[in-house]
Amino acid sequence: MHQDVERILFTEDQIRAGIDRVAAEVTRTYSSTPFTVVSVLKGSCVFASDLIRRIPIPLELAFVSAASYGEGTTSGALQLNFFPAESEIQGRNLLLVDDILDTGKTLSRLVGEMHRRGARDVKSCVFLDKPARRAVAFQSDFRAFEVDDLFVVGYGLDFAGHYRNLPYVGALRKECYERPRSAMR
Ligand code: XMP
Repeated sequence: MHQDVERILFTEDQIRAGIDRVAAEVTRTYSSTPFTVVSVLKGSCVFASDLIRRIPIPLELAFVSAASYGEGTTSGALQLNFFPAESEIQGRNLLLVDDILDTGKTLSRLVGEMHRRGARDVKSCVFLDKPARRAVAFQSDFRAFEVDDLFVVGYGLDFAGHYRNLPYVGALRKECYERPRSAMR
C-alpha cells in the first residue's frame, strides 16, 4: 500500500494535533447542549472514533451511510444506504462527521434529510475540506485540514475500498487509478 502513495500530506502527528484542535472547538460549542455525533460511513469511521475520544463531555453516537464514488475518483450518483432511527434524529442536535468535503453534495443532502426527519439543529464537522472542488454552496462548521485538489487516501479515505487503514493521509499515485483492481496490493 505505502508504495502507492506519491507523498504524505498529513502525518500521524499532524493529524493528532488537528483533531485536538477541532475536538476543543466542538467541546466549546456543545459544552451546555446535548448532542449526537452522526458518523457518515464508511469514510469517517477512523476520524469519528479518534474525535469522540477527545471530546470530554456527554455525547451520543449514531451512523448514516452515504456512497458516491463507487470504484473511481470522481463523484457519481449519491446513494443513502441507511439512517439513524427516527428517535435518534427527532428533536436532536446533530453533528454530522464526514471524512472529506469535496463537491458538498453529500453533506448538503444529509443536512437537508436530517432537518426533514425532524432534527432540531444540524452542524457538520469534516476531517478534510477541498474547497477547490465545491459544486454546491456548503461550508462545514468545523474542519481539521484544508487540502488541494488531489485524490487522497488513508485515515479512513479509500480508493475502490482500499487504503482506509493507512495511518496517515497521502496523495495516491496517478498510475494507481488506472491499473485494474485485481492488481492492487
Ligand atoms: P462530496 O463530493 O459529496 O464528497 O462532498 C464526499 C465524499 O466523496 C468521497 N471523496 C473522496 N474520497 N479521496 C477519497 O478517498 C478523495 O480525495 C475524495 N474526495 C471525495 C468521500 O467518500 C466523501 O465522503
